[in-house]
Amino acid sequence: MKDNRGFLAEIMNIKEKVTSAFIKRYKESPQFIVRAPGRVNLIGEHTDYNDGFVLPMAIDRAIWVALRPRDDLAVKVSSLDFSKPCEFSLEEITHGDGWGEYLRGMAWSLQESDYPLQGWEGVLASDIPVGAGLSSSAALELATARSFWAVNPWEWDATKMARLAQKTENEWLGVKTGIMDQMIVANGKEDHALLIDCRDLSSQLVPLPTETAIVVLDTATRRGLIDSAYNERVSECQIASEFFSVDALRDISLSFFENHVDKLDPLIARRAHHVVSENERTLEAATAMKTNDRVKLGQLINASHISLRDDYEVSSEELNIMVEIANTQEGCFGARMTGAGFGGCAIALVEKSIADSFAEKVSSLYRAKIAIDPQVYICHPSNGAELVKEL
Ligand code: GLA
Repeated sequence: MKDNRGFLAEIMNIKEKVTSAFIKRYKESPQFIVRAPGRVNLIGEHTDYNDGFVLPMAIDRAIWVALRPRDDLAVKVSSLDFSKPCEFSLEEITHGDGWGEYLRGMAWSLQESDYPLQGWEGVLASDIPVGAGLSSSAALELATARSFWAVNPWEWDATKMARLAQKTENEWLGVKTGIMDQMIVANGKEDHALLIDCRDLSSQLVPLPTETAIVVLDTATRRGLIDSAYNERVSECQIASEFFSVDALRDISLSFFENHVDKLDPLIARRAHHVVSENERTLEAATAMKTNDRVKLGQLINASHISLRDDYEVSSEELNIMVEIANTQEGCFGARMTGAGFGGCAIALVEKSIADSFAEKVSSLYRAKIAIDPQVYICHPSNGAELVKEL
């Protein structure tokens, strides 16, 4: 558990770490410092690729890049978290491996859309845990876009950048993700979550209910084969929307679903039931937030977890244990897995005044129950990808 002070110190640390690593390497201060956050999703899980609604927030864990322009078309970046640097030429972007693929892919997407790219070099570091479901990949994509923008600016349109980051995932990396992660990492706003309509990408800022905190509960478990299970769910949803003769599951209401589901294969029906009911819960959750109704919001969060566990089957034993433990604590309004699932993180909506003791208790109960050390911390809604320093 990290309290806020420790956490603020850590943020300063990362910024300072990339700055001093830059100075050590290049013997001068960085010209720009760029930051792109991770995210948690409050509700609206596995709805984005069904043209539905999501309600994520950007968090105060981020990737930081310290950089300066080059006068040629080379990109040279080292990471304080990985040993192998990423180096490529914008003259001909080819595939490489590891974390550098996100930079190459983003450069390729930007070039495909005719953005004027110039070379740059620098150092990056991150405190977003990899594989935890907090969107470290989207953060790397948007940090890359912001870095290219910093050295040779164009009109920054966050939603366009999110689409290009999704193109990177889908076409450069071959992963069929939806648009949620990139949208929130690009468009996040301090103190707010964002209700996003994944069909037309319109969005509305929604404040957290007063006197509440969001606690990240990282089970410290990671699963392999997530991509194939994810792609399987995407296909199952496509089968369901074909059955109902609609473009996407977004187009049917719960009552329509209930009246027309009887001839649908039972497994596909459960998948579709999750998506259709989750869309309704997400809209209700946004209303609960706008009316400052934290009890209702907590109930919807709990219902979302049950639906993901039983109908969509993307939770895990550890996530279920974590959520159960969280819900037995006083001052917890609701808890659920967040992100794609199969391991990684849950979140809890809790009374602000007890957030620290909640985090401590949940950590020790989880540890006692399954002998795994979780990472539990309060997170704050933060801005999307941004330039934080310009010389
Ligand atoms: C991953 C994907 C998102 C979304 C979530 C599940 O994070 O990248 O597009 O589908 O899973 O809601």
